[in-house]
Amino acid sequence: MDKNKLAEIAKKLVAPGKGIFAADWSLRSSEKHFEKNDIEHNEESRRQYRQMLFATQGIEEFISGVIFFDETIRQKSDKGKPFPQLLKERGIIPGIKVDKGTVDMEGFPGEKVTEGLDGLSERLKEYFELGARFAKWRAVFGVGEGRPTSQCIESNSESMARFAALSQEAGLVPIVEPEVLMAGIHDIARDEEVTIKVLAETFSYLEKHKVFIEGTILKTNYVHPGKESGDKVDYQLIAEETFQTLERTVPPNLPGVVFLSGGDSPEESTAHLNAIAKLKKDVPWELSFSYARALQYPAIEIWQGKNENKEAAQKAFYHRAKLNSLARMGKYLPGMEND
Ligand code: 13P
Repeated sequence: MDKNKLAEIAKKLVAPGKGIFAADWSLRSSEKHFEKNDIEHNEESRRQYRQMLFATQGIEEFISGVIFFDETIRQKSDKGKPFPQLLKERGIIPGIKVDKGTVDMEGFPGEKVTEGLDGLSERLKEYFELGARFAKWRAVFGVGEGRPTSQCIESNSESMARFAALSQEAGLVPIVEPEVLMAGIHDIARDEEVTIKVLAETFSYLEKHKVFIEGTILKTNYVHPGKESGDKVDYQLIAEETFQTLERTVPPNLPGVVFLSGGDSPEESTAHLNAIAKLKKDVPWELSFSYARALQYPAIEIWQGKNENKEAAQKAFYHRAKLNSLARMGKYLPGMEND
């Protein structure tokens, strides 16, 4: 394992002012988003869509890395250039989602485990050849009566740690993504309790599996009340609770924590990041974004699969990337939404 190289890539992924674009919707997820926007869903329309976003002028100022899906890392631009190469030439690091999604956890109703460890070493080798220098694995934890169980947390943490160790062996920086889901009627205190438990277990397993922490990135959720709780809390409280959670669980030698948007709107996601940056805490890790939905909306709505909307969609994508870059420096103002 080349530790220096891994640490260098991890640092670049969370370089000041930059964040990660999660362009790794599975076929099922992209179908959902395409259908919602009346866009035909097939391999070519997915390629056109990703090409349109990747070709946006100037995003390299705000985007350090892009997470591909298996199909996307193999696709090429109209001019025949592989997408990973296209991005690399602009200083953006190619990455890859390597988990195979979630399945029901046998004997634990309502809980999920992530699959994808079988044959992972071979797949990682191939992805490295295709240009990927980091990899992502997502585990999900629903909050409910007696959930998540410690068995679910442990089982997923073990898989995340195995994934991380194998990624590093293959020369890829692992992005370990334990996501406490927003759905539910729980309050913010319960969300914090669950997120602390999940993150503590995640890092405990990373240590057990001898994962090189300086060459690892954590991707996780903001701590906030369940979507169906009806609780209204302000950005400041979410920032404070999220920060406190990280402070209690994340080791100081981790280079960075990146947040997912998890169903919050693009504006909310940007405001969350800004509120955390504005706490101006002296922390050892970089705090940034790794959004999928919060970067692609409203661009996908504007695009509608039509070439004539390309420029306007790219403008919207650029705008969100820029606002999130400003937010991670605590320099975002809601008025900028209309710039
Ligand atoms: P969202 O930002 O849409 O939550 O997606 C992040 C992600 O990559 C989920 O794995």
